[in-house]
Amino acid sequence: MNAASPRGKIQADLFAEAASNADAPQSLREAREAAATCRRCHLWEYATQTVFGEGPGSATVVFVGEQPGDQEDLAGKPFVGPAGKMFDAVLEDADFDRKKTYVTNAVKHFKFEPRGRKRIHSKPNAGEIQACHWWLHSELKLIKPELAVALGATAAQSLLGRAIPVTKLRGTTVEREDGLKIFVTVHPSYLLRIPDEVAKQAERRRFLDDMRKVKKLAGM
Ligand code: URA
Repeated sequence: MNAASPRGKIQADLFAEAASNADAPQSLREAREAAATCRRCHLWEYATQTVFGEGPGSATVVFVGEQPGDQEDLAGKPFVGPAGKMFDAVLEDADFDRKKTYVTNAVKHFKFEPRGRKRIHSKPNAGEIQACHWWLHSELKLIKPELAVALGATAAQSLLGRAIPVTKLRGTTVEREDGLKIFVTVHPSYLLRIPDEVAKQAERRRFLDDMRKVKKLAGM
């Protein structure tokens, strides 16, 4: 497990380890094609397909979610289901063009429990997050963004190499040893799960503030 260095930066050991691997893809297209047949963990067996990241290779900001949901698994695209719609609506309110950003997930296969005809989202475990880190690392290495945004705990764990208290660090930027800045915020699905409408709107405003900060930090 990684630890904060005396300078307060996070050591990204996993990142360094992956960087030395000779199999590293040379382009996002190559990475996407290789990820389509990924067998780094067992999740591929149950999912419809790998859901790789989407967006321009020149993006200055990379948003990282947890894993594809039911609709993303079927569409083969990240953040197109209910959480994606919430994300899009808040980005629009922040006057933030999603098409100029790169959107991906820490884990690239849908993990679920079958319940009748439904597939219920199941949180990826540390081993699955670590196995899939290879792909997130490859995306970041090829894009070289100004900023990566951890949307929730799973993304933060993959980006920083350790579990962090998201509620405590929310709205702040943590710098990794390799210089990559990680902005920490909540996952948009968190907003969808708040039952009380007043509380939900308050949290949506906080998320909107976070997106405005990200836009500024990424120089967009
Ligand atoms: N939740 C995520 O974290 N990612 C998606 O792509 C969809 C829902």
